[in-house]
Amino acid sequence: MKKILFVCLGNICRSPLGEGIMKKIAEEENIELQVDSCGTSAYHVGELPDPRSIDVALNHHVDIRDQRSRKLDISDFYNFDFILAMDRSNLSNIYDKEPKDSTASIHLLREFDTIENEFDVPDPYYGGDSGFEACYQLIFRSCENFAQEKLI
Ligand code: 4NP
Repeated sequence: MKKILFVCLGNICRSPLGEGIMKKIAEEENIELQVDSCGTSAYHVGELPDPRSIDVALNHHVDIRDQRSRKLDISDFYNFDFILAMDRSNLSNIYDKEPKDSTASIHLLREFDTIENEFDVPDPYYGGDSGFEACYQLIFRSCENFAQEKLI
C-alpha cells in the first residue's frame, strides 16, 4: 500500500485539501492508500482546518473535519513513499529537514498539473474565499494526474 503525505506551511488550508481529495480519489478508484498531511511550521498544531477550506471541501463532497494540524516529523521521511509539497518554500523547508537516508520520493504537487506549467499552489490564507476554490481546483487536478501517473 502506497503512503502519501501532503505538506504546506500551516497544515490548515492547502495540505488538508490535498489529504481529503486524495482519500476521495482512492475511495472512488478502489486504490488502497494511506494519506496524511502536515505543515512545516507548528503555528497551528492541534487545530482544525481553516473554516474556508472546510467549506470549499464540503461544497465538493469532501469532508476534512476529522483532520488536525501537525508538524512535519523526521519519521515522515521513512514512513511515506511520496511527500508532496504545495509550494517551493515548503519544498525548501522539507529539503532542509530531509535526512540523508530518507526513503521518500519528494515532489512539488504541481509537477502533476498537466494544464498549467506553474510550480506553486498559492497560499490562500490571507486572501478571500475565491482563493480557496482556486486552490481546490489546482489540488484536485494535480492529485488526479498524480494518481494516474503513480498509482493506477
Ligand atoms: P497553509 O496556509 O500553509 O496552506 O495551511 C497557511 C496557514 C497559516 C499561515 C500561513 C499559511 N500562518 O501564517 O499562520
